[in-house]
Amino acid sequence: MRVPMIAGNWKMNTTIREATALVSEMCPLLNQIENVDKVICPPFISLAVVKELIRGSSVKLGAQNVYFEEEGAYTGEISPLMLANLCEFVIIGHSERRQYFNETGEMVNKKILAALRAGLKPILCIGERLEENEAGRTEEIVTEQLRSSLAGVDYPRSLIIAYEPVWAIGTGKAATGQQANETIGFIRGKIAKLYSDEIAQDMRLLYGGSVTADNIAEFVQQPEIDGALVGGASLKADQFLSIVKQTSEIRSRLSEES
Ligand code: PGA
Repeated sequence: MRVPMIAGNWKMNTTIREATALVSEMCPLLNQIENVDKVICPPFISLAVVKELIRGSSVKLGAQNVYFEEEGAYTGEISPLMLANLCEFVIIGHSERRQYFNETGEMVNKKILAALRAGLKPILCIGERLEENEAGRTEEIVTEQLRSSLAGVDYPRSLIIAYEPVWAIGTGKAATGQQANETIGFIRGKIAKLYSDEIAQDMRLLYGGSVTADNIAEFVQQPEIDGALVGGASLKADQFLSIVKQTSEIRSRLSEES
């Protein structure tokens, strides 16, 4: 059975001081919740501080982006080698990066390859835009995103994929559990074709887009959905804790039943 994961993407929010306060409030409580991987992804500048704050706990750390070169004259960028000693996970290909920073499929692919080379575990984000969804092109779009992102990746053992329909991100208009389950099941099928059944069955596939404490249950009770990438609600300690707690309870109950 796959261990579910809840990852909080803080985006461009929190000063170091605010990040310290939020982690100090959440960490002791998150630490007590079992059977779910709890990952927080603060801004780069807070990674080192947060790493110290979560030391010895079961809370894990991720970055929100990475560049694909190891070092050199790339002003303002952060390399996989810099992150490798700092955090375990890195979000790659988030739709906000594709949309506002012109990240292409080719760049996402280079970042995935570089992150894996450095021993980081990528959380690859894919998902269709509203007009693509309305035109019934969801499967075509995620297939193409998978193909381009994973070119040259021989063995994606540590990869996590977050299916995040762009129209659901930050809009308060989440997909339904059933919609998300269908697309995520489709993605798992594609992974099986690209790699193997075993890899597809082991891989954790998350849903992201307007996840809150009020709707998380709808997602994590679905058989294909292994957790969530949470944006806005991950900045509120009580919301994030409730999302993690519900995930733990629902998944524990489902695994007992099966
Ligand atoms: P949201 O963001 O939960 O605020 O919709 C999700 C994401 O961008 O990963």
